[in-house]
Amino acid sequence: MSEKIPVSVKINGEEYSQTIEPRLLLSDFLRHELGLTGTHVGCEHGVCGACTVLLDGQAIRSCLMFAAQADNHEIVTVEGLAASKESLHPIQKALREAHGLQCGFCTPGILMTLIPFLEDNPNPKDNEIRQALSGNLCRCTGYQNIVKAVKLAASLQNSVHSAFPR
Ligand code: FES
Ligand code: FES
Repeated sequence: MSEKIPVSVKINGEEYSQTIEPRLLLSDFLRHELGLTGTHVGCEHGVCGACTVLLDGQAIRSCLMFAAQADNHEIVTVEGLAASKESLHPIQKALREAHGLQCGFCTPGILMTLIPFLEDNPNPKDNEIRQALSGNLCRCTGYQNIVKAVKLAASLQNSVHSAFPR
């Protein structure tokens, strides 16, 4: 077994300092060490997008990164989106209202992909939405309602811009 190393990382606004195995994946760190199980793990090799989180505001695949590489960086997971446990982030609301999810397995990754996408594309066209989500595999919806939800989210974003954190 390799020697453990220290890691300090800010997650959803909270500072975490732990010693970890150098080979520990960021996705496993979030789920197994911190209990942030909203980050899902599907393929574990960068294909499905279920494990997407924000690293310093950019959407990344947490199964393709070691937790040690997040040292001194800032992460947002799906648990950090809504302002409180009783509320939903506007993108979450839009997915619910437009029926943009069924089993929900892909949903956290889709949400985290959409945060920076909508920040950069406040009025996206259908083809831009489909391209943005081309790395997020959904087995249930056929994507039609997800695209509708993203358009609804964009209109909510444009009316409540400050509700979308980076
Ligand atoms: S679990 Fe990371 S991309 Fe599939
Ligand atoms: S809603 Fe089931 S995989 Fe997307």
